[in-house]
Amino acid sequence: MSFLDLARNRYSCRDFDRNRAVSRNILSGIIETARLAPSACNRQPWTFVVIDDECDASCREVVIESYNRPWVTTAPAFIVACGNHEEAWHRASDNKDHTDVDLSIAIEHICLAAADEGLGTCWVCNFDVDKIKSGLNIPAQYEPIAIIPIGYPAPDATIATKNRKDIDEILKWGKF
Ligand SMILES: Cc1cc2nc3c(=O)[nH]c(=O)nc-3n(C[C@H](O)[C@H](O)[C@H](O)COP(=O)(O)O)c2cc1C
Repeated sequence: MSFLDLARNRYSCRDFDRNRAVSRNILSGIIETARLAPSACNRQPWTFVVIDDECDASCREVVIESYNRPWVTTAPAFIVACGNHEEAWHRASDNKDHTDVDLSIAIEHICLAAADEGLGTCWVCNFDVDKIKSGLNIPAQYEPIAIIPIGYPAPDATIATKNRKDIDEILKWGKF
């Protein structure tokens, strides 16, 4: 698949095949693409907590309770992407914390790598941060940036058509 086709094919999957596990070999390979992502000053301020059915069932429950939507229960695995604010680069001129920027790049590597494997993912940020932090023992300096449910899409999953701004609206040559 060309990169353009991969970007076109990736979509937010909210209907997974719960009974089809994703192997740890595939999950590790997907995290490898996050490991290779660029980060400001190469600080790599990330840790990825992967939860599958081989983990204690309580971990899965924590994730589901933190984002209580029926579709989430269809995912066979979750990746909780955590950013370390103490390790991330802060820009000298205004002290801007680049944790979110670095984690976003790594997370999108994960989503695109998953799509390349025929897997579905969805960024989830609208979760209860305190529940995830305490339930998964995430240290204080780390922030859970996103939960990524991951799995094979249900055979009859509907794929929404892409709703995007036109290129003319977002591309400016020379000046804004
Ligand atoms: C930073 C971020 C946060 C998101 N949070 C959620 C979320 O909490 N729940 C959800 O269902 N989708 C979430 N999404 C998915 C978006 O709704 C989705 O990417 C967007 O509607 C475009 O659709 P597509 O991914 O299928 O192309 C999030 C996406 C991003 C990038």
